[in-house]
Amino acid sequence: MTAPGAAVRAAAARVVAETLAGHSLKTTLTPELASFVDARDRALVEAICFETLRWKRRYDAALDCWMPRPLPARDVRLAALIRVGLAQIDALRLPDHASVAATVEAARLIGRPNAVGLVNAVLRRALREGLPDSTDPAVTHSHPDWLVAALANDWPEHWPSILDANNRPAPVWLRVNRRRCDPARYASRLEQAGIEHRRPDGFPDALILDHGGDPTGLPGWAEGEVSVQDGAAQSTVELLPLATGMRVLDACAAPGGKAAHLLERVPGLRLTVLDRDRRRLLRVRETLARLHLPAPEAVRVADAGDPATWWDGRPFDAILLDAPCSATGVIRRQPDIKWHRRASDLADLVASQARLLDGLWPLLRPGGHLLYATCSLLAVENAGQIAAFLGRHDDALARDLPDRFGHAAGAGRQRLPGEFDCDGFFYALLQRAGATDGGVG
Ligand SMILES: C[S@@+](CC[C@H](N)C(=O)[O-])C[C@H]1O[C@@H](n2cnc3c(N)ncnc32)[C@H](O)[C@@H]1O
Repeated sequence: MTAPGAAVRAAAARVVAETLAGHSLKTTLTPELASFVDARDRALVEAICFETLRWKRRYDAALDCWMPRPLPARDVRLAALIRVGLAQIDALRLPDHASVAATVEAARLIGRPNAVGLVNAVLRRALREGLPDSTDPAVTHSHPDWLVAALANDWPEHWPSILDANNRPAPVWLRVNRRRCDPARYASRLEQAGIEHRRPDGFPDALILDHGGDPTGLPGWAEGEVSVQDGAAQSTVELLPLATGMRVLDACAAPGGKAAHLLERVPGLRLTVLDRDRRRLLRVRETLARLHLPAPEAVRVADAGDPATWWDGRPFDAILLDAPCSATGVIRRQPDIKWHRRASDLADLVASQARLLDGLWPLLRPGGHLLYATCSLLAVENAGQIAAFLGRHDDALARDLPDRFGHAAGAGRQRLPGEFDCDGFFYALLQRAGATDGGVG
């Protein structure tokens, strides 16, 4: 008979192996979770996968130390299973008998019955000795070398706390749809349902849940009263000076979190929604429909950086450019980013952000605002990108942003992960020379 919990460990090993082979954690996790009926099993698979991917480099360092011969490169599932076992002992601190027996048994389920003894020996050694020490922060904090070097360069005072925050689970942030409910009323609904929550200062539409779970089971979800969105993303709409009747472009809009927030907050907004990814754009339509929001003026699959293919020639009052980026600010929610992203990706990302900025700038009316936002922590995509843009456009002025939007970072501001309980995020508000209006409070 298979040991209880072995199927959970085997599923986690498959998810980790597939993720490290280059797929996103989200896409590998979802189908595996669907095969478990019990919510506790699903929660455990998820927790094991997250912790394994968070601490992968520490676990690999232990294996390098303990195994006389490295595992063959093709044995990715077995390597994943051993890391899964280490995560249960080290990060999750599960009871010994559960973690070791079930993980050892899972070796059979992943088709490696001959490795039962090896898995057992490694996990028992981890229980006995703990993981080997290291003095290398990239190992102890389990980050790639290039990222530690980039963060140390860009954030000389903050990089150790950034690495630490990247390895901590993030709370669930909710955004209440003001068109259908208000945060105080929604908070009392959570109270009635016995769901612990808090209301963070400075985030007018937000509530925070400290325990996760399936959001579709939340009160009012089906009625469109609430969405899941980190506080840093929610702050974006605070920054654009907007009013009823304005023509606004959300240039990189999918899956639609910020587009929905804009429509919730500003009645009568004439919103154009673009994304070059057709499938992701479908999710924007689904989101807006669930939230019962008015249809945008236009929804287009298009390359925002090539306006000749989609723009009707009428200027926008405001543009939100939530640019494609390294996503280094959201590692606490997507630990696989640490292993997927390469230093060599940055040049293409920076070039594509610059192309989007330059392509969109002429579409703004004089006096209009462009908000550039990324979920990156890297200066080259943020302060450096905006400094270069300001150097190319003498009709562009960077507006000052209030301190609550984070650390001064060139002409913009940077929230670092964990600060205000938020993800890492960069904001820069650019105004086109000409008629002036609207400020940022
Ligand atoms: C950070 S995500 C946007 C998240 C979105 N604003 C939200 O709040 O849900 C960046 C998006 O940019 C899109 N994108 C990348 N390059 C683009 C381009 N040249 N034109 C339009 N969209 C682009 C990607 O498909 C992706 O959906």
